[in-house]
Amino acid sequence: MSQPLTFALAKGRLLEETLPLLAELGIEPSESLTGSRKLMFETNRPDVRLLVLRATDVPPYVERGGAHLGIAGKDTLLEYGSDMLCEPVDLQLSKCRLMTATKKGEELPATGRIRVATKYVNVARQYFASQGRQIDPIKLYGAMELAPIVGLADVIVDVVDTGNTLKANGLEAKDLIAHSSARLVVSRVAMKTRHQHIAPMIERLNEWVKTQNAT
Ligand code: PRP
Repeated sequence: MSQPLTFALAKGRLLEETLPLLAELGIEPSESLTGSRKLMFETNRPDVRLLVLRATDVPPYVERGGAHLGIAGKDTLLEYGSDMLCEPVDLQLSKCRLMTATKKGEELPATGRIRVATKYVNVARQYFASQGRQIDPIKLYGAMELAPIVGLADVIVDVVDTGNTLKANGLEAKDLIAHSSARLVVSRVAMKTRHQHIAPMIERLNEWVKTQNAT
């Protein structure tokens, strides 16, 4: 038998939303995905196994063949920026916006490099370049809302959902860079080599998304 189809999931917020979608594909993890330190899980289907990874690690795992397919946010995929990955289904989950935000009432410096605190350094660089501005990126892994407040940065680039985090920290959203939602992501290689396995999944998930959004 060939290697089981390996499906990479992102831990955190998205993982819970992913479970009904797996059920739709007839995949049930053999144990709770959140209850242990395990990273790889067998399922009720001997031909399918699951990996539970950091969200930012899903694209490289899928791109390099560590997994055949996965679920990742568009924000993460934009930052990763690979042309070896396809996004055949927009799952319409975990919707949010990638935005710039500054300290409330403040504007960006009129000239010079802009200090940008973000975990989306590539997205930020591309966005500000499109505005004709160069940036001095400050790569952070969390709590970037604090950076403008303590004078570390002029602006942040981060995902915004309700806007509560910005508000609670004295920031205001400025420019919309991109809309984000969770995507089914498949490597171009797996799309060919595992087509018979993956194509019905894509079809089923597209139907599932239609049904979810019709109600
Ligand atoms: C994201 C983001 C903000 C928050 C925005 O963090 O970094 O902190 O959500 O959501 P809101 O607009 O509804 O307040 P998340 O909770 O995903 O954790 P992370 O910092 O680990 O990415």
